[in-house]
Amino acid sequence: MAKKLLLGVNIDHIATLRQARLEKFPSVIQAARVCEKAGAAQITVHLREDRRHIQDHDVFELKRIISGQLNLEMACYDEIVNIACRLRPRQATLVPEKRREVTTEGGLDVVKNFNAVAGTVEKLQKKKIRVSLFIDPDLEQVEMALRTGAEFIELHTGSFANAASKAKAQKELMKLIDASVFANALGLGVNAGHGIDYNNIKSILKIPHMHELNIGFSIIAESLFIGLDKAVKKMIKLMKQYKG
Ligand code: PXP
Repeated sequence: MAKKLLLGVNIDHIATLRQARLEKFPSVIQAARVCEKAGAAQITVHLREDRRHIQDHDVFELKRIISGQLNLEMACYDEIVNIACRLRPRQATLVPEKRREVTTEGGLDVVKNFNAVAGTVEKLQKKKIRVSLFIDPDLEQVEMALRTGAEFIELHTGSFANAASKAKAQKELMKLIDASVFANALGLGVNAGHGIDYNNIKSILKIPHMHELNIGFSIIAESLFIGLDKAVKKMIKLMKQYKG
């Protein structure tokens, strides 16, 4: 039987809109409730060091009110790691962070930052938080991810999503497939995310062994025109084609 592919909706963009006016709305709490009611298994938020969108109080309130899983995206900064240890989300996804980037620009370099990443994995796991490492589809990165002790990887699908030509996209898709097959053989769980939308999801579903997809921008953008409930349901309907 095909494994059910879960949807994590990244609601950072709701907070981006709120912070643009330093207002109390639109509410990330309301957004999380709508996403869950529409069938999202997980709410994903990135607590950035610069707090440009999600704030500390958001993550604690989300943890309190959601009934499904909370996935906290975070960098290996002591301050954020300490917050995560207090929050104890179901999953922490470790990502690289640069102050001047518009959004996460690539995967975590686990090879280069092995000690820092492994140390953070250990701290989080001591608090019973499942750890996923957001990495590029590179076999060396996958192998080093396993060595950190992390249970999951999240494959960075951005290079595929932003590929300038069909040939380049196909090449990137093959890298994602190979990395997923390799990770699964090593016993790692496989998630994927970044730049996934209603058009490219069909190709993304060719990646085997995936457990969950984390999707933000396309769903929130679509919600402006059809509402958040319908935008989430529309993505879940497409994801049902997954064969595992
Ligand atoms: N996964 C990770 C690790 C991310 O950093 C992001 C962006 O915050 C996403 C998924 C969602 O990407 P997008 O907003 O392009 O769907």
